[in-house]
Amino acid sequence: MKKVLREALINKRSSLSKEKAALKSRQIFTELRATTLYKEAERVMLYIAFRNEVHTEEIIDDLLQRGKRVFIPITVHSTKAIIVSELKNPIEDLQPGNFGVLEPKPEAVREVDPSLLDLVLVPGVGFDKKGYRIGYGAGYYDRFLPRLSPDTPTVGLAYQLQLVDELPIDQYDYPLQYIITEEGIRDNRGLYGIGSDIE
Ligand SMILES: Nc1ncnc2c1ncn2[C@@H]1O[C@H](COP(=O)(O)OP(=O)(O)O)[C@@H](O)[C@H]1O
Ligand SMILES: [Mg+2]
Repeated sequence: MKKVLREALINKRSSLSKEKAALKSRQIFTELRATTLYKEAERVMLYIAFRNEVHTEEIIDDLLQRGKRVFIPITVHSTKAIIVSELKNPIEDLQPGNFGVLEPKPEAVREVDPSLLDLVLVPGVGFDKKGYRIGYGAGYYDRFLPRLSPDTPTVGLAYQLQLVDELPIDQYDYPLQYIITEEGIRDNRGLYGIGSDIE
């Protein structure tokens, strides 16, 4: 069930042209950037986009320009764990790792405890209206999200076409607090629409 849905959602996401993905990613960032949550966050974890995930290069540049600290995940294949590493220089620090995803070079790994983060932006293959997500099938974020401090906000970044009414979930699936798409911000109670604020 999950597997079929995962493949269908991956196909749907790959059907977005480069231009559309770039445009929607920019709209999603505009939404995010206007929130109090984003403006007040000082230590932000996000991902380096892979395949057609919502792009994050501009977010990273914006955060660094504002003097905020940026963190990215390193996936540990053997344990399916995520290590959080500080990213200081996106040009110098990164190289292709597992599956071709950009990860820090060994000398640029700067591990921190996840409880230090005050905002976490999460990629996904699909999301539902309660904030549940489906990933590539290894459960990395299901293992990671419970390690955050309970008051750390978690925000999924997704194109509207990745959003479904309800995903099948199992005991380890862990919901996100907010999802931002090009059509607005939603929490697990509903859609706030474009230009909404979240704190
Ligand atoms: N915290 C956890 N401890 C042990 N196994 C887990 C944990 N989180 C997820 N898993 C397992 O990882 C596998 C993949 O999870 P799944 O939710 O299907 O993938 P994804 O979240 O990437 O879509 C499942 O077999 C799931 O039971
Ligand atoms: Mg899962």
